[in-house]
Amino acid sequence: MNTETLKTQFRQQAQGALSLNVAFIGVTGNLFSTLHRLQEATATALAQAAGLDAGYVTRWCDAAYAFGYLEAAGDTFRLTPMGEAMRPEAPDSLMPMAVQSVLSAHMAERAAGLLQSGERPGEAVLAERATILPWFGPMLEAGFGTMFEKTISPAIPAFAEVDARNGLVLDLGCGNGWYLRVLARRYARLRGLGLDGFGENVMQARERARAEGFADRLHFEQGDIHDFTLEEPADLIAMNRALHHVWEHDRAGIFSWLHDNLKPGGHAVIWEPAWPAERSALRDPARRSLSFQNLSEHIQGNHLLQPEEIVAAFAGQGMSTEVYRFAGDNEAVIVAQR
Ligand SMILES: C[S@@+](CC[C@H](N)C(=O)[O-])C[C@H]1O[C@@H](n2cnc3c(N)ncnc32)[C@H](O)[C@@H]1O
Repeated sequence: MNTETLKTQFRQQAQGALSLNVAFIGVTGNLFSTLHRLQEATATALAQAAGLDAGYVTRWCDAAYAFGYLEAAGDTFRLTPMGEAMRPEAPDSLMPMAVQSVLSAHMAERAAGLLQSGERPGEAVLAERATILPWFGPMLEAGFGTMFEKTISPAIPAFAEVDARNGLVLDLGCGNGWYLRVLARRYARLRGLGLDGFGENVMQARERARAEGFADRLHFEQGDIHDFTLEEPADLIAMNRALHHVWEHDRAGIFSWLHDNLKPGGHAVIWEPAWPAERSALRDPARRSLSFQNLSEHIQGNHLLQPEEIVAAFAGQGMSTEVYRFAGDNEAVIVAQR
């Protein structure tokens, strides 16, 4: 490929990133949702309804029109189907892509600044951007909730077993609590306890559980997995995209904790992005983003795991495992039994 062809290719790719940047502003400023409610509005009326500055919203409307999120008739705007699909409330919303795009830019900038010192500042980097922070939970919920509800939870018999005995599911690193809410919707009897280190996540988890009428069955606490004391042994302990956050810090400790806090016969259900055994697999377009995620995990003091490493760690506790793979082998769920 010559340089001109490469420039054309990169310009097209850059347009994709810009389009998601424009969408991010609309998502976090509640502009897509507000315009959906109004059906149509001038930029000034949209700004007023969203409680935002008319100058910025006018410029945003031009950009959102240019990238195809808005249609215009004179000075009046309405959402296109693409703009509708970007609303966080839309079924199968495109919102996670917009949030992920700007988060990736933030993490790229942080990695660039840390290359020389090698410093790994930890998860605090995720909280550095006030506009991104409240969107972690909704981004993960919209990105993975449907897969869990429709594909993963029906494939794993342990959930129904817990439900049958009014059992307790503990979700370590629970984010905004979407996993326990999916289970509570499907199973009427199981109880849930979620733990997360970020206060924002715990606040959202409590609020959403209450809004769905699960406040009596689902409880959430803020705290650190490494020094958490469980009042009663759990029937099932879930960790979704959370094990790799504690693996480097204290792998042996966490696996013996999982073993000791499960009832005999209870299950640990660990869901992780599956880091491939061969580097060449990262070239697959469906896996490329995993390589960037691992760079951004490095900043946080983490790295992504191969499912086989998790199986071996459970074997070290004398626990047998079953590995389920989903989404073209990109997602692994390891079910271990005490
Ligand atoms: C990638 S997020 C996944 C959140 C949620 N499980 C989901 O699937 O949406 C990882 C979560 O683990 C939490 N976490 C990481 N280390 C933790 C620790 N030591 N104690 C408590 N929570 C922790 C983070 O706050 C974050 O919400």
